[in-house]
Amino acid sequence: MEGKRALALLCVLWSVFCVTECVRRDGTRRRRRETCADDGLYSSSSGLQCCRCPIGHHLVRDCTSNGTAPECDACERGSYLDHANALSKCEPCKTCGVNDNMIEEKRCTPASNAMCRCMDGYYCDKGAECKVCYPCSTCEFGIKVPCNLTSDAQCHEQGPNTTTASIKIPILIIAFIIIIIIAAVVYLWKKKLFCFKPPEPLKTPEPLDLLIDKDLGEFLPKISEILGVRVILQVVRQQRLLSEGVIDNITVENPHDASERAYHLLKAWYEKHGKTGAYRTLRENLIAIGKRSKADEVRELIGERENNNVT
Ligand SMILES: *[C@@H]1O[C@H](CO)[C@@H](O)[C@H](O)[C@H]1NC(C)=O
Ligand SMILES: *[C@@H]1O[C@H](CO)[C@@H](O)[C@H](O)[C@H]1NC(C)=O
Repeated sequence: MEGKRALALLCVLWSVFCVTECVRRDGTRRRRRETCADDGLYSSSSGLQCCRCPIGHHLVRDCTSNGTAPECDACERGSYLDHANALSKCEPCKTCGVNDNMIEEKRCTPASNAMCRCMDGYYCDKGAECKVCYPCSTCEFGIKVPCNLTSDAQCHEQGPNTTTASIKIPILIIAFIIIIIIAAVVYLWKKKLFCFKPPEPLKTPEPLDLLIDKDLGEFLPKISEILGVRVILQVVRQQRLLSEGVIDNITVENPHDASERAYHLLKAWYEKHGKTGAYRTLRENLIAIGKRSKADEVRELIGERENNNVT
């Protein structure tokens, strides 16, 4: 009796175990099927339809019967897969590089990638593609819209206060340059340099000549020799000091001797002109009729004599 009872009890216990185990297995199977339905199937290389590995896992070995789950492993540290898959490896997690001005906002998990954001004072307007953050602009004339993580600061244009200053400075520089140019022009003009050098004076006497205002009398024969009768006639006529009658008389009185005629013409002119400023007048007139070299010869003559007298 004892043995029978024990056997019956054993039998009951086994049935209970068996029933619960069957239900459990059934549930597992159902759950598996449901999970597989959620994640979908993939075709293995052997032609079986296998469930995909769930999020956060990667495939290790294909399933061995149609419609069942394959062998999957969780992603290792530093890698993730954020979708059901049949991949043999997980993706490496994104790193948020300080060199790229980024910090980690969300840690990487097996099921999700890390998320980076820009460090304070940096922005990135490339959206999901963002690889590097750029420093926010510093606004010279004040911030209109402040910098945030996804867009740079917008700056004010030049403020009204600064406008005058930024206009004044170039004006001051231009004024300074103009003053310098004027000063240079005045300096050159005073020093009579370059283009301010007066043209060879027709009326302005040269320094040496100014000093000489003395009797030309002793020079007259020599001067008339240098100039010749034709030049002297030109000078005399230009000056209109001698009437044509006087000129004619001198010509008539010395019909054959040109040098005598020259001398007398010059002498008559000199007497009429008077001693004061005669040399200067003569020189100016010679230059005026284009006989500059003759004028210089005369000056040399007088200058030499002057020097000889001094020494
Ligand atoms: C697996 O099941 C699919 C349909 O789900 C079927 O087309 C295929 O032939 C089956 N393969 C095997 C080996 O039973
Ligand atoms: C950043 O600023 C821009 C305008 O400059 C704005 O459109 C955007 O919504 C802002 N983003 C955040 C996260 O505040």
